[in-house]
Amino acid sequence: MRHAAIDPQLFIDNRQRLKRLQLPNSIAILNANDILPTNADGSLRIVPNSDLFYLSGVEQEESTLLLFPDADDPSLREILFLRETSDLIAVWEGHKLTKDEARQISGIQNIQWTSALPQMMHRLVCEAEHVYLNTNEHKRSGSNVQTREMRFVEEMRRQYPLHQYHRLARLLHRLRVVKSHWEIDLLQQACDITEAGFRRVAKFTRPGVNECDIEAEFIHEFTRRHAAFAYNPIIASGRNACVLHYIQNDQTCRAGDLLLLDVAASYANYNADLTRTIPVNGRFTPRQRRVYDAVLRVLRGLMAELSPARRHKDWQKAAEEMIEKELVDLRLLSLRDLRKQGPERSAMKRYFMHGVGHPLGLDVHDIGFTTEPFAPGWVMTIEPAIYIPEERMAVRLENDVLITETGVVDLMAKIPIEADAIEELMSR
Ligand code: GLY
Ligand code: MN
Ligand code: MN
Repeated sequence: MRHAAIDPQLFIDNRQRLKRLQLPNSIAILNANDILPTNADGSLRIVPNSDLFYLSGVEQEESTLLLFPDADDPSLREILFLRETSDLIAVWEGHKLTKDEARQISGIQNIQWTSALPQMMHRLVCEAEHVYLNTNEHKRSGSNVQTREMRFVEEMRRQYPLHQYHRLARLLHRLRVVKSHWEIDLLQQACDITEAGFRRVAKFTRPGVNECDIEAEFIHEFTRRHAAFAYNPIIASGRNACVLHYIQNDQTCRAGDLLLLDVAASYANYNADLTRTIPVNGRFTPRQRRVYDAVLRVLRGLMAELSPARRHKDWQKAAEEMIEKELVDLRLLSLRDLRKQGPERSAMKRYFMHGVGHPLGLDVHDIGFTTEPFAPGWVMTIEPAIYIPEERMAVRLENDVLITETGVVDLMAKIPIEADAIEELMSR
């Protein structure tokens, strides 16, 4: 792993929190992600399973975690199964976790090789009444690829058809959305690395550079700080910024255009999510600045409105109302357009058509029940925008904030955002 060691207490606490939600005499089992194939004999670098990491700190393939808080034998209440290494694996793939290392990372005492899993599981599943298995219940997930976890679910249900199965995801959604102080520290580190990347790029950007060159600057800064891209970076100049998921990043940046940068770092599996929009030549035109300031006002307004007990859908509605007002002031919409539009706000949605924020954590679009009110400990993005393809421009701004009892803490407060501050940074 590239990141510094994490205090195992983070994972010990997480298991304790899960235990409090489990039914009596229940066993929870979860698995690592597969290493995904590409073409020929190629494969992607593993993306650690967020839930497994959350409960154990383990990032290695072919790992299984078994949690049975009421197991009769206390030594079998937490067991982590790992892929056993060999001389061949050591030569071709390098180091794999030893049992001792896994103990130190996770705080779990009973570490076994995966070969022991079937027998141990049979014993414990026969002792348990309820079984929690994990599935991806992110509302917007959509993939036909069968995961290791889904293969495991099928196999369990085939072998033990009469057990009572439950959805571990429901418990993990409830837990993971509320961040502990350990997690907030790691998220802050991801934000700080993101800041370093942004500052470097703001000074580097000038007319004639390619979006690719800017991507390279980010990679350099993130990698040397032991981090990686949190998601495919969006480096979109001019009209490209109106494509919401633009990841081509291969066009030349032109004087007079704006450049939208939705780029952030992931550190120790915790993700930042930043968007800044900067003028390619270092100076906003008066029109660009008016649009920019409008989006910034909305961002500030939404920060003030993000408080415990507020509901996501009301917050989104507040965002849409604020943006609508700005669109009228920018003469992009008229009061008549607003009167004519229905409750689906089709006029406004020509210029702003996405969600205004999402939970952030081990996943960029993190899990959590967003139908429930916000609560202290949630980390949210705030990302208002105005897209104007007919003017070849878009402005989006995005910061990450922690919700507390008394308001939000801006984890990106140090990253320049005022138009003047951006111009000042770019002039250095
Ligand atoms: N970068 C992904 C998002 O803003 O949601
Ligand atoms: Mn983003
Ligand atoms: Mn986002």
